[in-house]
Amino acid sequence: MSELLSIDDISVSYGNIKALQNVSMHVNQGDIVCLIGANGSGKSTLLKAIVGQEPLVNGSITFDGEEICKTRNTLEGKGKKRNKLMTTDVIVSRGIALVPEGRRVFADMTVEENLDMGAFLVRDDKLIAERKESMYDFFPILGARRRQKTRSLSGGEQQMMAIARALMSAPRMILLDEPGLGLAPLVIADIFGKIDLINKQDNVTVFLVEQNARMALKASTEGYVMENGKIVLNDKSSALLANEKVRAAYLGE
Ligand SMILES: Nc1ncnc2c1ncn2[C@@H]1O[C@H](COP(=O)(O)OP(=O)(O)OP(=O)(O)O)[C@@H](O)[C@H]1O
Ligand SMILES: [Mg+2]
Repeated sequence: MSELLSIDDISVSYGNIKALQNVSMHVNQGDIVCLIGANGSGKSTLLKAIVGQEPLVNGSITFDGEEICKTRNTLEGKGKKRNKLMTTDVIVSRGIALVPEGRRVFADMTVEENLDMGAFLVRDDKLIAERKESMYDFFPILGARRRQKTRSLSGGEQQMMAIARALMSAPRMILLDEPGLGLAPLVIADIFGKIDLINKQDNVTVFLVEQNARMALKASTEGYVMENGKIVLNDKSSALLANEKVRAAYLGE
């Protein structure tokens, strides 16, 4: 299996707060990999670093053999090491799409307009129209609501729209930041079913961040556990589900 995403020894700070410390992770093409961890452990920071929204203090991130984020000594900032190599839109154009925490939908726009935003890099109107139709086939509820303002959708429908919006750029990999957050168990199961189909049918590699450790480990093949900005465990998801420490700390057993 070939490696698609490689995160090598990265650190990210917010002022004096060390949000990520020497984190390394690897995601193979076609896999579903999850990252679990408590509130404030650094999960969202990691996803933001991958898409170039937070600069690295050290380390590098490589996607499909190309370095997308690395540190560089800059003359500004008194020799501080912090920089990113590419802007977020360039990283999106390479094939990574982020579904952000809390969905971040444009509430006053219709479903259709939100999907158009996801295709901001696509110049071909016919292709955009085709992709929207395939999203409406895949998420029929979005087709039925296409001209409705997004604020009128339920939480689950908004999450589906956020996923569909990310897929509008036809990514090779999607990063999902807590897709189950604040949703009822049946709705979460529905969304995880869709994520599995996106992976299996469309061959999209999935990097899933969740506080809901049980759902995430069941949905994935490999998992990482983050505590206070550091990776403390990495194993097959089935092994993590059986791991005593994981069971006690994250599965409430
Ligand atoms: N913009 C910011 N400025 C300062 N500190 C931040 C910022 N964003 C995050 N932090 C801090 O960095 C740490 C990691 O936050 P992060 O949001 O990555 O955690 P998380 O694992 O995603 O948490 P949650 O499960 O609550 O979403 C926390 O201590 C948080 O308070
Ligand atoms: Mg978060």
